[in-house]
Amino acid sequence: MSFPASGARLPRARPVKKGLREVLDVLMYDIIMKKREGGELTGDEIEFFVKGYTEGAIPDYQASALLMAIYFRGLNRRETADLTMAMCNSGRRADLSAIRGIKVDKHSTGGVGDKTTLVLAPLIAAAGVPVAKMSGRGLGHTGGTVDKLESIPGFRAVMDPAEFTEQVRRVGVAVVAQTGNLAPADKKLYALRDVTATVDSMPLIASSIMSKKIAAGADAIVLDVKAGSGAFMKDEESAFRLAETMVEIGNRVGRRTVALVTGMDQPLGRAVGNALEVREAVAALKGGGPQDLLEICLALGAAMLLLAGRTVSVEEGRRILTELLESGMALEKFEEFVAAQGGDPRVTREEGLLPAAAISEDLPAPRSGYIGAVRAGLIGRAAMLLGAGREKKESEIDLSVGIVLNKKIGDRVLAGESLAVLHANSPERLAKAREIALQAYTVGDQKPEPKPLIYGTVPEKIQT
Ligand code: URA
Repeated sequence: MSFPASGARLPRARPVKKGLREVLDVLMYDIIMKKREGGELTGDEIEFFVKGYTEGAIPDYQASALLMAIYFRGLNRRETADLTMAMCNSGRRADLSAIRGIKVDKHSTGGVGDKTTLVLAPLIAAAGVPVAKMSGRGLGHTGGTVDKLESIPGFRAVMDPAEFTEQVRRVGVAVVAQTGNLAPADKKLYALRDVTATVDSMPLIASSIMSKKIAAGADAIVLDVKAGSGAFMKDEESAFRLAETMVEIGNRVGRRTVALVTGMDQPLGRAVGNALEVREAVAALKGGGPQDLLEICLALGAAMLLLAGRTVSVEEGRRILTELLESGMALEKFEEFVAAQGGDPRVTREEGLLPAAAISEDLPAPRSGYIGAVRAGLIGRAAMLLGAGREKKESEIDLSVGIVLNKKIGDRVLAGESLAVLHANSPERLAKAREIALQAYTVGDQKPEPKPLIYGTVPEKIQT
């Protein structure tokens, strides 16, 4: 027997079978073949696949084959929007209609030290725009927003939909843990992508994120797409492509959507780790905190107020938000929100109420010079080794541990001076994390050119 030369077309050989199982197999076979050959899938074919896979009628091996075909052949914007809506409609969709006003959600594609939701949720609510936020628990370097909030003693992130709606109406803001029934198709497909090397596909990432945002009930969405070594998208160009894809999906399905592309070459702010990030977010709500964190919060927040119709310009939004921070009203809203969810609001004044690690150790600079890099991915890895993040879904996280950066890109440092402080509860974990954290830093003779914190905005696209 001889095989045709590589690239030659083999005759199409479908399985010849009968019965419902076999009919499903053949239909799915045709869909896989169509995408493998670069064809465009219809909305019905996409829905058949998503529904069939979620219900268990389509086996993992066929779903994997289609994902791989999509990975290589891509999806056009219409197919991506259809996939998004099919996944969005695979479970319960939140109904926020009982809450008056335009509900604006914000989503970050994930970065190290990103605590913007902790600042923005009360800040936007203080500006009079309702915030009804569902948030995930994170896999990776640190926990997600919900884990961070749970480092506040007593904070409860699980509530039923009626309680959630009632709190948003009464307090203006609620943040709850996303349930498994929100876009269950995405949950199942994401797990499959994770083990079939198909996570880093632009249309699959975009539809995965947007399906959950739309199912969470927002009328409008502000996206923070990160670009850099600590992000999914390692460079500016691919971050813009992802941002444009997601903005177009949102606009196609009737959600006002804009995106900011922001830098993630070094961690955002200085704190990386759950309780440590709450502490830093509180400092920002008091009108202090690191400048880069404040700047991103003002930019995202101004975009949220604009989409909510609360303001007519970005400048007006920035002015309102700055006043709310300076007057203490944003902090007051944070305390009210924390108390409404059972948490101790005194954490804003008594830092000792937050969990603290037993050991804190400085990371000394190996030489004098300028900081050339603080690789966010490695700082995140070091924080995870300390126990701040989950390597697997079932891993326990330690809310008290993490890293506080004393030096960031462009800072001058003397040999032996502290680059960062590692907060740990185990000497063994500390030793491993120290090594990785040190690799994250580059110290050189030249002061590096600063990279932009915000690369740009992808505005709404008006549908014709
Ligand atoms: N985050 C998601 O929710 N989905 C992806 O595919 C990637 C990041």
